[in-house]
Amino acid sequence: MFRTFTLSVVAAFGLATSGLAAGGEGHVEDFDFSFEGPFGTYDQNQLQRGLQVYTEICSACHGLKFVPIRSLAEEGGPHLPEDQVRAYAANFEVFDAELDDFRPALPADHFPESGLENAPDLSLMAKARAGFHGPYGLGINQFFKGIGGAEYIASLLTEYTGEEKEEAGVTLYENKAFPGGWISMAPPLYGEDVEFADGHENDLHHIAEDVSAFLMWTAEPKMMARKQAGFVGVLFLTLLSVLLYLTNKRIWAPVKGKETS
Ligand code: HEC
Repeated sequence: MFRTFTLSVVAAFGLATSGLAAGGEGHVEDFDFSFEGPFGTYDQNQLQRGLQVYTEICSACHGLKFVPIRSLAEEGGPHLPEDQVRAYAANFEVFDAELDDFRPALPADHFPESGLENAPDLSLMAKARAGFHGPYGLGINQFFKGIGGAEYIASLLTEYTGEEKEEAGVTLYENKAFPGGWISMAPPLYGEDVEFADGHENDLHHIAEDVSAFLMWTAEPKMMARKQAGFVGVLFLTLLSVLLYLTNKRIWAPVKGKETS
């Protein structure tokens, strides 16, 4: 009796989860990022490589209009030296209303908007997408794996199947991570698209991971400060609980007929 019950529960669970997996959500790989977990931090070198991938490839279409260029110098971020940030900014042109003309960007300016009209801005993309939804769409996986925005982007970049189709004059590319399965962005990365100065690996998996880590940082530049504040908070509350417990004991001791010390 009990046995059949357990078996049917297991079978029902299996059916339900496989049903979900076959639904509209795309397939998202669980990448291993340095910033995961309660003590995870951004890897400064990885953010610098991701910036390079963004600059050389994604920036042709996608903007980062909410990100001030000077934040590239921030500790906990790519942490570039000030002179490099100034030189980097000068690669972009911004429209200056006072001059009524274009001028080279300064560190105080933001990254430009998307150059291609239907390419979304990527500043907050890593927080706007969730990689993990299950089981049953409850999002419980997010407790263990994180929300998965960076995983979603990395999966999106690596899970093109090579299939294409035309629909209403638009070319669509099959992608296993994209909900619905067909995206209008041509595969932007193939592997070895960029050369890193430090000779770091540049196969598709690695550069996809690097640019996704960079986009996680643009979406949440203060993640490390947030985690630290949370940790201090938990520590403080633990200490407070202990003190309150002892106080409670002391206050009730006479009533309970024990001696106060
Ligand atoms: C040739 C132009 C082009 C380039 C280069 C390009 N993209 Fe895109 N990207 C697009 C377009 C167009 C869309 C909208 C696709 C759609 O919604 O069908 C898009 C959409 C996206 C999305 C959003 C997907 C979603 O869930 O809505 C992400 C993330 C993304 N691109 C990341 C990147 C990254 C990272 C790079 C650089 C490695 C890159 N793109 C390079 C044109 C481009």
